[in-house]
Amino acid sequence: MDINDHLPKLKELAIESSKQAYAPYSEFNVGAALLMDSSNIFTGCNVEFSDYLTLHAEVNAIGSAVNAGEKGIRAVVVYSTSSPPVLPCGSCRQKLFEFSLLFKHDIIVIAFNNKEEQIEMLLSELLPGGEIKVDKK
Ligand code: THU
Ligand code: ZN
Repeated sequence: MDINDHLPKLKELAIESSKQAYAPYSEFNVGAALLMDSSNIFTGCNVEFSDYLTLHAEVNAIGSAVNAGEKGIRAVVVYSTSSPPVLPCGSCRQKLFEFSLLFKHDIIVIAFNNKEEQIEMLLSELLPGGEIKVDKK
């Protein structure tokens, strides 16, 4: 699968999703679009609450994909208006890693903004040595 074939659509949908963000506290809108192994796309925006426990755009996109029965994440595209464009935070990296491990493939991470800036990295670069430890009885 060539991510570049899907990138224009992923970017368009990430921008659209960012417009739905509910961010009255930070006033910082973020939109994320996930490209799945199926080539389907799922999106999410950030949602803030007065207890400051925010749902990040990436997490909402993951929730949307899982709710539709899909977990094979091939790429995540994140849109914001900051410069440089924001990459997924540590917590989101760990959440994405969950599915990278499950599906035994890396995830392409692309962050872009409205200033023609774009960063492309692999999740394995953003979270080197990632692991999940769960003690099962
Ligand atoms: N935010 C995201 O949703 N994703 C990111 O990758 C970075 C930050 C949100 C959280 C909060 O609502 C706002 O952006 C400011 O940090
Ligand atoms: Zn995050």
